[in-house]
Amino acid sequence: MKKNSKLKVSIIMGSQSDYKVMKLAEKTLKKIGVSFETKIISAHRTPQRMYEYAAKVERNHIGVIIAGAGGSAHLPGMVSALTHVPVFGVPVESKKLKGLDSLLSIAQMPKGIPVGTLAIGEDGAVNAALLAAAVIANNNPAVRKKLKSFRTSQTKSVKKTPK
Ligand code: RP5
Repeated sequence: MKKNSKLKVSIIMGSQSDYKVMKLAEKTLKKIGVSFETKIISAHRTPQRMYEYAAKVERNHIGVIIAGAGGSAHLPGMVSALTHVPVFGVPVESKKLKGLDSLLSIAQMPKGIPVGTLAIGEDGAVNAALLAAAVIANNNPAVRKKLKSFRTSQTKSVKKTPK
């Protein structure tokens, strides 16, 4: 397999208000040593920005996109429709429906345009980063090594007996 260690992850989110959750994806990618960029792109408030971003994804060496959004949460699906790289959606918790709206909106993509959907909120942001790192690891042995040692230390951190 051809190795491409230039590939990075792009974290996008619909609003500044999503960043308190999405910064956990950044933190996790940093821990695994994966290069990333972070941007606010709203499918409905900045549609032109979304189109311009999507047009440059491959040119910008983006191998995976993590898209966080809340409410009707169409950003992950729209970006997946406009690009050919894997998109992982993080449903951000909404005020009224606690993120159930975001989850269903992101998960229920009709066939043809996939979005890998993670858990609502912080767990989803962390797991989206781990999943993105696993995709990058296919072409990047250094990331693969870090991902394996992350798993090993996570396993070691689980005590056998409760205190
Ligand atoms: C979505 O609307 C965003 O992803 C955010 O989760 C939600 C609320 O946005 P704000 O009104 O807080 O900017 O587009």
